[in-house]
Amino acid sequence: MERTLVIVKPDGVQRGLTGEVISRLERRGLKVVALKMMNVSRELAEQHYAVHKGKPFYDGLIDYITSSPVVVMIVEGKNAIKAVRNTVGATNPVDAAPGTIRGDFAMDIGRNIVHASDGPETAAFETSLWFSEDEICAYTRNTDTWIY
Ligand code: PPS
Repeated sequence: MERTLVIVKPDGVQRGLTGEVISRLERRGLKVVALKMMNVSRELAEQHYAVHKGKPFYDGLIDYITSSPVVVMIVEGKNAIKAVRNTVGATNPVDAAPGTIRGDFAMDIGRNIVHASDGPETAAFETSLWFSEDEICAYTRNTDTWIY
């Protein structure tokens, strides 16, 4: 099983899409094991997006993610990183396939509703950046044998 970080960004929360995002992940078979709503400090935003520092969109990205509350979660499942990225769709919504979250709900790369970790190292870094171990719930679902 893999764990990955998902953030419903400020535009997703403001547009009332938090439930839609969680629902799509859950209906697919993914399991939410940690969840919270929070305002993002500039310090946390800068740590999260450190790899993009210096890029032309960096300052706007920090302003955007710190502008209004987010809902952040850890999602668990077999190949969860890839499954979540495919459910979310391409980074630029204009390239995101219909049926994906961004393909159905977004128009602009600067307002793309969701963040999802893009690989195993990023997922490990991001899950430990946003959550402490005692905020994560390991539990068994009776439905798991019907999903795998
Ligand atoms: S890169 O340079 O290819 O690594 O960047 P990319 O993976 O495409 O995007 C990294 C994150 O930056 C966001 N992004 C932008 N935000 C605002 N404006 C512009 N122009 C822009 N370009 C990229 C993009 O949504 C990614 O955010 P996350 O939260 O990781 O999805």
